[in-house]
Amino acid sequence: MSLDLRGKTALVTGAASGIGRETALAFARAGADLVVCDVNERGLEEVAGAIRASGRTVLSRRVDVSKADDVRALADAVHAERPAVDILMNNAGVAVGGRFLDTPLEDWEWLISINLWGVIYGCHFFVPHMVQRGQGGHVVNVASAAGYLATSQLAAYATTKFAVVGLSEALRDELVPHRIPVTTVCPGLINTPITSSARMRGLDSATARKALIAMYQRRNYGPERVATNILKAIASKRAVAPISPEAWVMYYLKRFTPRLTARVNRLVQSRMEREMRRGVPGG
Ligand code: NAI
Repeated sequence: MSLDLRGKTALVTGAASGIGRETALAFARAGADLVVCDVNERGLEEVAGAIRASGRTVLSRRVDVSKADDVRALADAVHAERPAVDILMNNAGVAVGGRFLDTPLEDWEWLISINLWGVIYGCHFFVPHMVQRGQGGHVVNVASAAGYLATSQLAAYATTKFAVVGLSEALRDELVPHRIPVTTVCPGLINTPITSSARMRGLDSATARKALIAMYQRRNYGPERVATNILKAIASKRAVAPISPEAWVMYYLKRFTPRLTARVNRLVQSRMEREMRRGVPGG
C-alpha cells in the first residue's frame, strides 16, 4: 500500500540526520510539504535543500525539542500558516549506553529531557490542533526495540523508550474518535550517527564506541529502509511498528516466551559487552 501525501504537511523532529532525515525525504517524495527541525543547523539546511529540490515546500527551524519554548514557537509558526499538520513525527532522540549503576544523574536528565519530554512537547503543541481541525491525521512516535525489551546496558535509554511506548498506546486509544492513528516505531539496530553521539558509561568509552560503531556498520541496516517501512506502517495504521528483522523477533519472543527472551537477551548482552571491552566486533 503506497502513501499519497499530496496536499499534506508532515512535521519531523530530529530531521537533520539518520531516520528523521530519510523519512522527511520519503514524505517529500510521497508529495508532502515538510516542517523539519533539529539542533543540528548544518544538517537541517542540507535536508531542507534536498526537500526543496524535490519540488516540495519546507519550513525549517532550529528547535531543541527538550525546550518547551522552542517547540511552542515552532507550533506558532506552523499554525500561522495552516490549521494543523497532517503527520506529526516525534523522532529526535539521543542515547546513553550504560548500566544503571554507571549512569550519572546528568545523563538521566539529558536523556529524559530529549527522548521523553521532546515527544510530550511535540504531542502537546501539535495534537490539539489536529483534533480541532477535525480532519484526522497521524502521529508517529519513534521509540525503539528497547521500548519493549530492556537490557542492562541501556538502562536509562530503555526507560525513556518504554515511556514513549506507553504514552503512544494511551494516546492511540484517546485519538480513535478523532481518526488520528498513533504509530510507535521500534527500529532495531540501525546504522546512523547515533552511535557517535551516544554517551558511553561504565566501559572505556573510546573502545566501547569503536566496537559499537563497527557492530552497527556490520549489521548494515540503513535509515532509508526504516523510512520506507515507516511509510508502510502509516499506510496500514499500525499501532506498533518493529522495523528490522531482529526488532520483529524480539517483539514476538518477548510476547510469547518472556523467560526465554530474558535468557537470550542476557547472552546477547554479555557478548556485546565483551566486544565493547575489546573494541572490536565478532567473537
Ligand atoms: P541520529 O543521531 O542520526 O539522528 C537524531 C537526530 O536528532 C540528530 O539530527 C540530532 O541532532 C537530533 N537531536 C538530538 N537532540 C535533539 C534535540 N534536543 N532537539 C532536536 N533535535 C535533536 O539518530 P537516529 O538513529 O536517526 O535516531 C532517530 C530516533 O530513532 C531516535 O529517537 C533514536 O532513539 C531512535 N532509534 C534509533 C535506533 C538506531 O539504531 N539508530 C534504534 C532505535 C531507535
